[in-house]
Amino acid sequence: MNSKKTTEINIGIIVTSDRASQGIYKDESGKAIEAFLNKILDCKWVAHYEIIPDEQVIIENKLREMAKHCCLIFTTGGTGPAKRDVTVEATENVCQKLLPGFGELMRDVSLRSVPTAILSRQTAGILNNTLIVNLPGKPAAIKECMNAVFPAIPYCIDLIEGPFLTVNEKISIFRPNA
Ligand code: MTE
Repeated sequence: MNSKKTTEINIGIIVTSDRASQGIYKDESGKAIEAFLNKILDCKWVAHYEIIPDEQVIIENKLREMAKHCCLIFTTGGTGPAKRDVTVEATENVCQKLLPGFGELMRDVSLRSVPTAILSRQTAGILNNTLIVNLPGKPAAIKECMNAVFPAIPYCIDLIEGPFLTVNEKISIFRPNA
């Protein structure tokens, strides 16, 4: 039986940051993702929240572990060009299918705020029945990107046979056949 068919909706939030994982500063990005989801989701859901260092193998293992019970995983951070930015490589390595439209749209909306948005390599993809979406590290950027891509996420999760996500009036989502 696919455990994700049960009513419980599990969503993973992975903060990839060497400094946050060492306690050098407090995570704000993961909290921003959780706050956004709390604001727009009107279904019962559980957040699975982890802060890990920018190590590709650790990120890949965490994605694979979370994908066993989460229908949706957001990562934050590690999408830029710096040596330790490896979240995108980890995502591409674990996914069977990539959804480049997510990254294209997020860069497009982010470019309206900052020219350095072209430095983000963020993407999304499917690992079994789980959608993984890379978000940038800054809370303001997270909000912009989430507002842009979330409207397509519930239908994507329908297509990969995950649970039925419902939202409130604070966001408009699109399901072609609804
Ligand atoms: N997107 C938005 N909306 N706002 C931003 O300030 N910063 C950019 C880019 N995307 C930014 C943004 C910068 S400076 C970098 S280096 C990349 O995201 C990668 O950031 P990350 O490593 O935190 O993922």
